[in-house]
Amino acid sequence: MFLIIALTCIIYHSVAADTQEVQESQQYYRISMVSSHENPGSPALFVHGESPVWDPEQQSLYFVDVRDSNVHRLDYVSGKIYTKHINYGEVNVVSLVAGSHRLLIAVRSSLYLLDWAIAGDSALRLLTTMDVGLPDNVINEGKPDAEGRFWAGTKGPQTGDEVVPDKGSFYSVEQESFTHPRTQLRPVSISNGIVWSLNNTVLYYIDSPTQKIEAFDFDLQRGDLSARRTVIDISSVGYEDAIPDGMTIDSHGNLWIALMFGGTVLHVDPDTRQIVFGYKLPVSRVTSVCWGGPNLDELFVTTARDNLDAAAEPLGGAIFTIRGTGSRGVEPHTFRFDNADFYYTWVIVTFCHLYFIEPVILYHVKHITPNQFNTFEYTNLTFSHAESPVWDPDIETLYWVDVLQQDVHSLDYKTKQHKVKHINYGEVNIVIPIKNSSRLLVGVRNELHIMDWSLPGDSALRFVAAFDQGLPDNILNEGIVDAMGRFWGGTKGHQHGNDVVYDEGALYSLEPPHFVPQIRLKPVSISNGLVWSLNNTIMYYIDSLSRRIEAFDFNLERGHISRRRTILELDEYWDDEVIADGMTIDKDGFIWIALMFHGCIVRINPDKRTIVERYKLPVTLTTSLTWGGPKLDDLIVTTSRRNMSPETLKQQPLAGSVFILHNMGTSGVREYKFVFTNADTYK
Ligand SMILES: *[C@@H]1O[C@H](CO)[C@@H](O)[C@H](O)[C@H]1NC(C)=O
Ligand SMILES: *[C@@H]1O[C@H](CO)[C@@H](O)[C@H](O)[C@H]1NC(C)=O
Ligand SMILES: *[C@@H]1O[C@H](CO)[C@@H](O)[C@H](O)[C@H]1NC(C)=O
Ligand SMILES: *[C@@H]1O[C@H](CO)[C@@H](O)[C@H](O)[C@H]1NC(C)=O
Repeated sequence: MFLIIALTCIIYHSVAADTQEVQESQQYYRISMVSSHENPGSPALFVHGESPVWDPEQQSLYFVDVRDSNVHRLDYVSGKIYTKHINYGEVNVVSLVAGSHRLLIAVRSSLYLLDWAIAGDSALRLLTTMDVGLPDNVINEGKPDAEGRFWAGTKGPQTGDEVVPDKGSFYSVEQESFTHPRTQLRPVSISNGIVWSLNNTVLYYIDSPTQKIEAFDFDLQRGDLSARRTVIDISSVGYEDAIPDGMTIDSHGNLWIALMFGGTVLHVDPDTRQIVFGYKLPVSRVTSVCWGGPNLDELFVTTARDNLDAAAEPLGGAIFTIRGTGSRGVEPHTFRFDNADFYYTWVIVTFCHLYFIEPVILYHVKHITPNQFNTFEYTNLTFSHAESPVWDPDIETLYWVDVLQQDVHSLDYKTKQHKVKHINYGEVNIVIPIKNSSRLLVGVRNELHIMDWSLPGDSALRFVAAFDQGLPDNILNEGIVDAMGRFWGGTKGHQHGNDVVYDEGALYSLEPPHFVPQIRLKPVSISNGLVWSLNNTIMYYIDSLSRRIEAFDFNLERGHISRRRTILELDEYWDDEVIADGMTIDKDGFIWIALMFHGCIVRINPDKRTIVERYKLPVTLTTSLTWGGPKLDDLIVTTSRRNMSPETLKQQPLAGSVFILHNMGTSGVREYKFVFTNADTYK
């Protein structure tokens, strides 16, 4: 039985909201509230209900509580409300995904796929982030269009009920380019509303502080907006103190609009620009509306009680239904994201054996003898951009990061147990073991943190240092520890697609007792591979955009570098596109380099300045490498699928795997761990 209990079952008769535009109506309608499951007979109250959406398949209403960071599902038949708590901050939007049981949700300024069945942080899989560089902005409302694109807008920093104007934007996101939201409108203050005419030629939109319902011509196929105009200005029809918030459409093409601070749901005919009716509710903060119920003829209305004295409006935060309006809705659109169910969820890694005998094609000027390794293994799951592989010999564990998915991974060699730790905070670029600690040093955006695997959510991170301060688009790009236990790491500047702006980064070192970043080299463009000769007198270094492998004299004691010189010019071997990325050294003192965009790794004799071996992998984006395994004779290579087209991915199904190459004829040396006393008790 349906348990929406008619608590305040008010029968309104021709009760108009306080506006002259309201037409005389003889209809009866009924307002009820969703009752609390634990406490039947009382309404279920939320701090800030928002983003209601009806799921016809599950006969359920999804909605969020923005302030309590919860996604809720009201099961219509049983009346039970299920809750999924999100650790990361404000949850503003929930939406359905086509053909998937997963949901699309907005948390702070990012979109994620949410898997209700998975516990903890791994329930969320990051799709993309909006308003990058504006950390106080949040996504405020979002909906899919008939093509399955997701449209969402943001709002700027908020204090109490005040939002800084003109700081937000309105975006569309489509599957083919989901990591790059397309800016549709800028600036906006509080992006709201969003619904399409039934024939999909008009988008209705609300930027709340304007108090207007606006319309755009909409090109469904291309996702383009044009011809912005006002449908109705609510301040001129008796709602000076209200702002329009959420909006939906009925089967006649009429709009239904929640009036925040106005305690009303407006029924508007957008073609005649007339208000048909105003439904008054016993609360002032009406946030959003959607049609639901088995016949789609019940209007669900979310409300809020934040910044409000509970005694003033005891029903604030209830979910209302309005029945008997004579109107009904249409089914909601769903976000199109094929294989959403498989988008990055595997937690078991196995290694697949494969024999590899592809002949190597030689490039350009110099002749390099091709080499073939006998066997390699690769992870049977792929990462968006795997980087920073590092082996901890003490516990026989391999670590690496997925920069774009913002995850730290570990693989215990003995048990084959694979663990993932998601970092909500931004791109994760570095992971390094810490001496005498089970914690790890991780690079997140432009900061280093001590990470505790066992702590939940954001509390897992303890801040250590920030680099390139004042350059908010710069991020750390590669880090390693020298024989004294000092951290060395560098940054890169703005990145657009695969292109990074030249000369915006620097190379730093960081050491006890104060851990203040010290600039060692500036400018650099993309600070990358870094390793020391076995006798610690030379530092080998790669600034990727220089297309050189360089060397410096190195004073280990003082951490000084001097006498910069070139070991190898990539120009002599490969065309412009190929750049050097990660680097490691073997027991013979030869350096190994991953060549990005070329799918190769090379072994270099640094004293003779020659490439002595070269191996081709079945992918093009090779990012970094290190030695691992109990005997340090496995060469572990990380790869990427960043910005790859679906066609390329089809040709390179292993792009993004972590590869393990065997029988390389040499082995590595133990890498140093970061020295940070009391890491286990830090803060
Ligand atoms: C599509 O719907 C809108 C809104 O109801 C209407 O103004 C417009 O004339 C319709 N266009 C077509 C081609 O039917
Ligand atoms: C990886 O291998 C494990 C164990 O065989 C299996 O359960 C899992 O489904 C595989 N994952 C993928 C993506 O193939
Ligand atoms: C590191 O840990 C080992 C084993 O737990 C211990 O013997 C050693 O004294 C520790 N060293 C430092 C510097 O804390
Ligand atoms: C240290 O190693 C480098 C690189 O192999 C070599 O060029 C240099 O001569 C060595 N220095 C000493 C003092 O052995």
